[in-house]
Amino acid sequence: MPVNQNNDNDLRWALIARTARKWKVERKPRMIDGIERIRNLNKTEQRLLLSWAEKEGWNPGLHDADSFWRVDPDGFLGIEIGGIIVGGGAIVKHNPRFGFMGLFIMRPEFRSKKLGTKLWYARRDHLLSRLENGATIGLDAVDTMVPFYARGGFVRYTRQVRYEWSGIAASSYISDAIITLENFNFDILQKYDRDCFPGPRSEYLRLWIQQPDAHAFGLEKRGKLRGFGAMRPCVSGWKIGPLFADTRTDAQELLMAFGQHAKGESMYMDAPESNPEANYLCRSLGMREVFGCVRMYRGAIPNLADTRSTQ
Ligand SMILES: CC(C)(COP(=O)(O)OP(=O)(O)OC[C@H]1O[C@@H](n2cnc3c(N)ncnc32)[C@H](O)[C@@H]1OP(=O)(O)O)[C@@H](O)C(=O)NCCC(=O)NCCS
Repeated sequence: MPVNQNNDNDLRWALIARTARKWKVERKPRMIDGIERIRNLNKTEQRLLLSWAEKEGWNPGLHDADSFWRVDPDGFLGIEIGGIIVGGGAIVKHNPRFGFMGLFIMRPEFRSKKLGTKLWYARRDHLLSRLENGATIGLDAVDTMVPFYARGGFVRYTRQVRYEWSGIAASSYISDAIITLENFNFDILQKYDRDCFPGPRSEYLRLWIQQPDAHAFGLEKRGKLRGFGAMRPCVSGWKIGPLFADTRTDAQELLMAFGQHAKGESMYMDAPESNPEANYLCRSLGMREVFGCVRMYRGAIPNLADTRSTQ
């Protein structure tokens, strides 16, 4: 980028931020109308959005930005003022019948001015336009945003509880049914995934289990796949997800295998209340509840094997 362009951007940004600070001290939030533009994010801006997620304490995976981008580079919209992106969000199309909205963030100086509302409806409608009629969209809502999303047509499905696990002793027993997914038959893996996720997502699944520095394991007993999962490095510790298993014992065997690779760092995983066994397992392993959000859907609720799923 030429030096002058950089200076211009800095100057423009300073002016916008100063104006936003002035608005902030006013009691009544002021609408900003007509000067904003909603558009697709480029790859640099998408990385910026992920860095905001980090600042929000959402602890994204170190390679999430790349994986999401490779799956759906059109799946990110931002809101621009004066040529600068001040908010954004993901609208990833997993298949023609299912999309997911996430990473909805406005820069703090621009919050509470109804810009987020404009961006969110534009994102919802843009995602709908990229899906088939009657498709379903999912999202995970922080509690305070549930009524807002409900007004946008989403209904509450289940609560997702995030657990932190400080792990297991390196010498713990690891089941000999654990397999690495590197050379495992991808069709079988996809078939299992298909029971637990709304619709096919082969590209996403392939990228997810092959992420750099990630660990992906399956559990195979008597020639049958009984579960699988992936654990990826995050800003802090590791996140396990997805984790699908036939039974609580199978899930525990997978978790113990992940625990061996966490290098003493914390591991995080989400367990939906629609799967009480998963929550029971997390608590029985001494995991600590650290966060919660609400899974909401717009459109038909996906008919999934909830009892096998943690995500
Ligand atoms: C959520 C967020 C993107 C909304 O953007 P915004 O420009 O502030 O939103 P708007 O002014 O258009 O208001 C939209 C809704 O956001 C919520 N909201 C707005 N300002 C808020 C604030 N300061 N604190 C909590 N919620 C707020 C309200 O529910 C509001 O809906 P309502 O006006 O109909 O009650 C923004 O507050 C943000 O970046 N928050 C941190 C990240 C986050 O929590 N994202 C949502 C995860 S589900």
